[in-house]
Amino acid sequence: MKAKKVLDRGVRLLKASPAIDHWQKGRERIEAEDLLNFVLGVDEDPPGDTEIRKKDVAAFDALVERRVTGEPIPFIKGYTVFRDLEILATPGVFVPRDSSEFLAEQAIVRLRKRKRPVHVDLATGGGTIALAVADEIPKADVYGADVAADAVKLARKNAKRLDLRATFAQGDLFGGLPSKLHGTVDVITLHPPYVAKGEVADLPDEVREWEPEHTLTDQSVDGLGLITRSVEESPQWLRKNGWLLVEVSPDRARDVVRVFKAGGFREVKSTKGGDLPVTRVIVGRCPA
Ligand SMILES: C[S@@+](CC[C@H](N)C(=O)[O-])C[C@H]1O[C@@H](n2cnc3c(N)ncnc32)[C@H](O)[C@@H]1O
Repeated sequence: MKAKKVLDRGVRLLKASPAIDHWQKGRERIEAEDLLNFVLGVDEDPPGDTEIRKKDVAAFDALVERRVTGEPIPFIKGYTVFRDLEILATPGVFVPRDSSEFLAEQAIVRLRKRKRPVHVDLATGGGTIALAVADEIPKADVYGADVAADAVKLARKNAKRLDLRATFAQGDLFGGLPSKLHGTVDVITLHPPYVAKGEVADLPDEVREWEPEHTLTDQSVDGLGLITRSVEESPQWLRKNGWLLVEVSPDRARDVVRVFKAGGFREVKSTKGGDLPVTRVIVGRCPA
């Protein structure tokens, strides 16, 4: 069967699936192409008139069937690509989002200016943001921490596989980090679970059913619980003039700016990546 026909059939099935969040026009075609390329082991989309072997068509159809149930593509493929790094993805650990590349970038531009940069990535999940920093600033001392044992295990596995230098610890917020870091950290990043407790039920099925609840909400009424704690606790860890960077959805940005300001942070701003309308990164410098 020709590639175009294989893909068109896949796109139709994906479009018809009620379990998929159809948030972006044309997304289903991108996903079908991604799955076909994965099956064929190629990076570039094959021309539409390429003949696809029977066994590859069957393998592709099987993956589309999984996606139709809402299973995220990174779980189907076993990995996702984040700032050129292949990050392993397994059920039980939050799937890294493309939108977090902007958070990593905001950390990297600030850390590049430091002589001996120190970075802490809170709520690190599979270590994505920490590992992007370790990759792009090899001289940086990078630490990641997460409350979930599965996440820390995956982060360590990712670091080993990618041969990157980063230390991962398990603990509640800063809880697992060594106290020798007090007053030394240049940049703290946090992509927290910020969905308000009462709003989890409104999330798309494919998020609610495939991501563990502790990765989505901190169970606070306003979704600001972990963010407020990070604002209160990070001055103890940050170096003078160090930065706290927090990724949230646009509708949470104003509240997070307020929390930063109430905590005495300076130069507080809500920043936005060029083509990433779904995210904001609130930045602020440590209180003087
Ligand atoms: C939205 S995910 C972000 C994961 C990762 N930073 C990323 O962008 O892919 C939130 C993460 O917060 C972690 N988490 C939840 N409560 C936490 C806490 N009290 N302390 C540390 N991490 C926590 C979850 O286990 C989850 O990995």
